[in-house]
Amino acid sequence: MRRFSTVRRVTPRYAQIVGWGKGLPVRAMHNREFEALVDTSDEWIRSRTGIVERRIVGPNESTVTLATAAARQALAAADLDPRRIDLIIVATCTPDTLMPAAAPLVQQAIGATRAGAIDVNAACAGFAYALVMANGMIAAGTHHNILVIGADTLSRWVDWTDRSVCVLFGDGAGAVVLQATDTPTGLFGAQLRADGAGAGLLCVPGGGTRMPPTAETIAAGAHFIHMDGPAVFKFAIQILTESTRDVLAQAGLEVGDIDLFVPHQANKRIIDSAMRAVGIPEDKVFINLDRYGNTSAASIPIALCEAIESGRMRPGDNVLMCGFGAGLTWGTALFQWGVPTDVPASDQWRLAGQSIVTSHHDRALAIARRAVGSRGSR
Ligand code: COA
Repeated sequence: MRRFSTVRRVTPRYAQIVGWGKGLPVRAMHNREFEALVDTSDEWIRSRTGIVERRIVGPNESTVTLATAAARQALAAADLDPRRIDLIIVATCTPDTLMPAAAPLVQQAIGATRAGAIDVNAACAGFAYALVMANGMIAAGTHHNILVIGADTLSRWVDWTDRSVCVLFGDGAGAVVLQATDTPTGLFGAQLRADGAGAGLLCVPGGGTRMPPTAETIAAGAHFIHMDGPAVFKFAIQILTESTRDVLAQAGLEVGDIDLFVPHQANKRIIDSAMRAVGIPEDKVFINLDRYGNTSAASIPIALCEAIESGRMRPGDNVLMCGFGAGLTWGTALFQWGVPTDVPASDQWRLAGQSIVTSHHDRALAIARRAVGSRGSR
């Protein structure tokens, strides 16, 4: 009988981000527009959430069109032929159709003819889950290039008469290309958790197999987002605080080792409160929720993309991302972006995949070794 030989990897494999992109609806909707729809005000929304405007899909836009736009940008930034993508993971809770998933539609649209394609539904925590899963597949040696996309269009499920929900959400997509490398970089720590006991706090009860759509379920509003805002608010602060601390401890790193914190962009008060508790200074926290609202699984990759493009992240920087949302689910990932360099910000994206030795490189590499060492010793 023919036996398979055991393949042993001599060099550990890591996953680095080599491409990034975003896809946003054309239409921007300002807080003031809600004043004509519900009993609210621009001032209330700004002061309670930090949101000023959000993007809302039009009739010809959807989760798949936004995800496709983000994917194309990420491939261009990585200078990668779509046929070299092995797998597409779309983190979404709002696919265009319940079946099939969004990912195969993106795969077809971008011409990734040699890629597998799946959706991951962990709501607003979806991108962190997908990133950690993709990292594991690259580390296992079975995949080389993975497109990880976070995309959602929650505006389609919002009750536009429910002022406590409709003002919060926006639509969008963000994408990264993860690529295998032998250089110690990428994921240094992660936590993926859930607490299904809180499933009812944030949900769309109708439309699934337990409550298929009928005239009655539609009339009862069962297909809209239902949320206990104050309970989700408390959960979010607790999770953002504890999970950030847990993952730093897991990686053997201090707050000072982190160059940028990219939390899920749900509410500025949630972020401020958790960052204060952990002792993270405001200038290390990336915020763009004022322009996009809560874009669910898209919020972290859109923020990552804008942090890179605005020069807030240099190759070799350590970024801590934390997503939380319906499920309840949460996912935190401590990721080193690219490999270290001190090239000017405008050129960094071109060089993210190359190793250039500099002083920044030395610090980043020392942190990478410490984190990788701490991972190995558990
Ligand atoms: N405009 C004006 N008033 C509003 C309002 C709006 N858009 N939305 C709610 N209110 C009212 C409430 O009806 C309530 O009125 P009442 O006292 O007469 O009953 C009052 O404001 C206070 O409500 P409360 O829910 O305590 O306000 P809050 O300060 O907690 O803010 C949220 C409400 C929704 C902004 C806040 O709870 C929140 O952000 N929760 C987390 C939501 C979230 O991020 N979900 C997604 C997680 S991924």
